[in-house]
Amino acid sequence: QDHLITATQLSRADIEAVLDRAAEIDADPGAVADRYREAVLALCFFEPSTRTKMSFETAIKRLGGATTDMGTVESSSVKKGESLADTVRVVEGYADALVLRHPSEGAAKMAAEFVDVPVINAGDGAGQHPSQTLLDLYTIRENVGLDDLSIGIMGDLKYGRTVHSLAEALTNFDVRQHFISPESLKLPRGVRFDLHNSGAQLREHTDLEEVLPELDVLYVTRIQRERFPDETEYEQIAGEYQIDDDTLELADDDLAVMHPLPRVDEIDPAVDALSQATYFEQAHNGVPVRMALLDFLLSEGEL
Ligand code: CP
Repeated sequence: QDHLITATQLSRADIEAVLDRAAEIDADPGAVADRYREAVLALCFFEPSTRTKMSFETAIKRLGGATTDMGTVESSSVKKGESLADTVRVVEGYADALVLRHPSEGAAKMAAEFVDVPVINAGDGAGQHPSQTLLDLYTIRENVGLDDLSIGIMGDLKYGRTVHSLAEALTNFDVRQHFISPESLKLPRGVRFDLHNSGAQLREHTDLEEVLPELDVLYVTRIQRERFPDETEYEQIAGEYQIDDDTLELADDDLAVMHPLPRVDEIDPAVDALSQATYFEQAHNGVPVRMALLDFLLSEGEL
């Protein structure tokens, strides 16, 4: 069986196949309504989630299947000290695929070594979040197209797993990537190295205004308090990168403002009413895209 652990494992053909299947499902969800009546999807979330967990749950149910849910760390036997390896070895006996979110980078890769059912990395610490990337790419393709694209990715580039996955997947397309962050939250060396190696067109900025007018997409991310080893470092940076309707006066009318959500204060709620606000559509795209992903992994066992 194949697993979805990182965005780097996805070729352009893989991405387009999933996005095309998602578009078919979006157009006619009834066509796949009973395809996986016997399938069970295990949800193992060692960190909080609203969108990823609920959209995977909706996705498998719309495919005719069901979920089995580990619950929270507090309510499961993780609380008694059970290891991740033992947990996933047990859970694979209850399910046909396993969705795993964990605070440790590399957790999904490690879990996949212990089980035969497909493992989907739903976020491993500050590492990767590849199924989010597929829905991000779907949203970009639907709104502005994926080639000859100029994207600004702003906020927590250091710890942001959605950023790491998206930036790596975008190297499959003709995209100019602008990374906007405080100096201390720049892309990690490993991600920058991968991007350079793949020939990506990338530039780093500390100031959004210098690049905003040329962007087709602005992908905003939350400064993640929970990832900072030092709370005072977080306090110094929090609130520095915020956008509101005044900020967007410099932007193209067709700009798509995206955000993986949840947001705290980095996008003013006044932006929600603007035509550029694309983040709720983006979150809703999680269902058809994850239906398409499950369709690949459950039927063909690979991407
Ligand atoms: N975008 C995202 O991963 O959201 P959740 O943390 O709510 O799953």
